[in-house]
Amino acid sequence: MQDFDNGTAVITGAASGIGLALAKQAAAHGMNLVLADLHADHLQQAAASLNLPDTRVLLQVTDVSREGDVASLAAASFARFGSVHLLCNNAGVGYSRLITEHSAADWDWVLGVNLMSVVHGIRYFVPRMQQQARDSHVVNTASAAGLLSSPGMAAYNVSKHGVVTLSETLYAELAAQQSRVGVSVLCPAWVPTGIHQSGRHRQPRYGAEGDISPQSAVYAARMAQAVQAGRLTADDIARITFAAVEQGAFYIVPHRKILQGVEQRCQDIVQGRNPTPLAPPAADSAQ
Ligand SMILES: NC(=O)c1ccc[n+]([C@@H]2O[C@H](COP(=O)([O-])OP(=O)(O)OC[C@H]3O[C@@H](n4cnc5c(N)ncnc54)[C@H](O)[C@@H]3O)[C@@H](O)[C@H]2O)c1
Repeated sequence: MQDFDNGTAVITGAASGIGLALAKQAAAHGMNLVLADLHADHLQQAAASLNLPDTRVLLQVTDVSREGDVASLAAASFARFGSVHLLCNNAGVGYSRLITEHSAADWDWVLGVNLMSVVHGIRYFVPRMQQQARDSHVVNTASAAGLLSSPGMAAYNVSKHGVVTLSETLYAELAAQQSRVGVSVLCPAWVPTGIHQSGRHRQPRYGAEGDISPQSAVYAARMAQAVQAGRLTADDIARITFAAVEQGAFYIVPHRKILQGVEQRCQDIVQGRNPTPLAPPAADSAQ
């Protein structure tokens, strides 16, 4: 997609981090914005930082794990702006501990926010985007964790592998239909945002997090350190993403170093070897 001007971008998780940076890029490209996140006050702060006229912005409180909320987001977006040209399924939460310490509620929360949100986003937006005469694009935020399997973040890894394969499947189906809707999957490594404090977004219906063992606490601390030490900023990621959308690139891998691990994994599969162990999250993997 090359023509952003006067188009409309819908961005979930837009009140913080990568989502807010995507919103800044969309605004700079002359787009109208639909910003979706959990809390109205956070959305208002985000919108204020963008300094756009009210006519160009719609704020929609949305819990992306709830199908009805995403259906309402789509209805409100099309009602306000008539069409949608860029859909960023970006909202997500991080969670770090041993697999054996993930409760069923932990799985429901992480898969609901990170994976089912993208399922709902595709279902409620893409059919209408396909009917538009103008090119449009879907960017699904996965992660390096969608291409690798680092220890200490099982539900997160599963959710992001899910987003990668969902995006690849969507790409194949739209290509077979010669659709004007393009698709990209964004797979960053560590980026300094609020992702290591995701527990504050955990809805009461999932209950409190369970007790954490010393070993899981080490994984969680390493993840927090790696996030904070990330060398590419959220603004860098957003700039790279818009350039990739403009070029029609599907895989967006801003931290090129992770491709060594991806190649290793593919070679392990092709050569019939057992998985090469990956180091747990570390600040030096933030390249
Ligand atoms: N920061 C990283 O190191 C990193 C790396 C790879 C991928 N990602 C992905 O980037 C995306 C954005 O995360 P970020 O790093 O900007 O983190 P962030 O915590 O700064 O922002 C995430 C936003 O999502 C919102 N959110 C959480 N649950 C929600 C829900 N149920 N409904 C609607 N909104 C919800 C939060 O309120 C927050 O504003 C996520 O999908 C994350 O998995 C982040």
